[in-house]
Amino acid sequence: MNTSGPTPDRILQLINGYWATAILGAAAGHALFTHLEAGADTAVQLADRAQISDRGAQTLLDGLLSMGLVELHEGRYRNTPEAAAFLVQGRPVDLTGLARLKLTQLGSLAELPEVVRAGGPVRQAAAEVADSPHWTHVVPAIAAQSVPAAQVAADALNLDEAGEISILDVGGGSGIYTSTWLARNPAARATQLDWAPINEIARRLLAEHQLADRFTCIDGDFHTTHLGTAAYDVAIYSHIAHQEGPQDNVAVFTRLKDALKPGGALVVCDYIVQDDRSGPAFPLLFAAEMLLKSKQGGTWRQSDYHTWLTKAGFQDVTFHAAPPATVVIAR
Ligand SMILES: C[S@@+](CC[C@H](N)C(=O)[O-])C[C@H]1O[C@@H](n2cnc3c(N)ncnc32)[C@H](O)[C@@H]1O
Repeated sequence: MNTSGPTPDRILQLINGYWATAILGAAAGHALFTHLEAGADTAVQLADRAQISDRGAQTLLDGLLSMGLVELHEGRYRNTPEAAAFLVQGRPVDLTGLARLKLTQLGSLAELPEVVRAGGPVRQAAAEVADSPHWTHVVPAIAAQSVPAAQVAADALNLDEAGEISILDVGGGSGIYTSTWLARNPAARATQLDWAPINEIARRLLAEHQLADRFTCIDGDFHTTHLGTAAYDVAIYSHIAHQEGPQDNVAVFTRLKDALKPGGALVVCDYIVQDDRSGPAFPLLFAAEMLLKSKQGGTWRQSDYHTWLTKAGFQDVTFHAAPPATVVIAR
């Protein structure tokens, strides 16, 4: 038998890729990484701490080991550095809420063949409805993943030293950008524009961090709500461009240019692909999410952002890595 040819191993893993989502979502739901970090290092100890079955704990550990999220040394398990950094509750970037949420969304992916044929959602796109419960679930779960990008943008703009600036966060969701930035600059003030139930979530986060007195919200649709004129030093549009089509992005960028003071900076954060669509891997995969959930969205290229921002009147556009996202700064 010829053993040098391709094997089906990787394809079988991909076909069963939902095992990874389910194992990670279940492990996050039972706080397994948090218990491992606190010293439980066998299936029996984990089962005891998490109040799950021994058999279930061993099965999750087997899967997590296979996925490279735990290590095994002489019969004892521990988190890999990656799991310790991003899957332990209470850490600055805790992705366990997102892992739990994604497990609940697995079923909708079965519609992908039909969505691909139709070129868009085959039922009303939940993300595009006013006050949709979709966002109430999503925004707390995705907050943590924006922390590194918020720090990259704050460093690039030297926000700590910027004094009494005013910030506009369009579609701010959990309020993660403004809470990160207001914590770094005690003289800054911020306004978030989002749907009313989502602004409530943001108000709670800002209050938890004792930042509520410098935070205001505008309830409404950012497509139609007046954004102001020469009112802000910095505006942020994070993980919104991918749900919008080219025309709508140019329209919002143009209105944001007017809302900024002369010399003000627009920060856009998103999953952006190279101009020849050859990578990076995560944004390429994310395009499927937008096909499922938005009528016109997608993962746009660097050149798309450059063209749209230039059309909107920005003259200086720079790109900053915040993997798997990219931060764009336009002035
Ligand atoms: C993917 S989340 C991004 C949240 C946040 N900017 C971040 O990066 O973590 C999209 C946000 O845009 C808001 N949003 C979507 N469409 C909107 C619209 N038409 N008007 C106002 N807010 C909208 C959602 O409620 C949600 O908070």
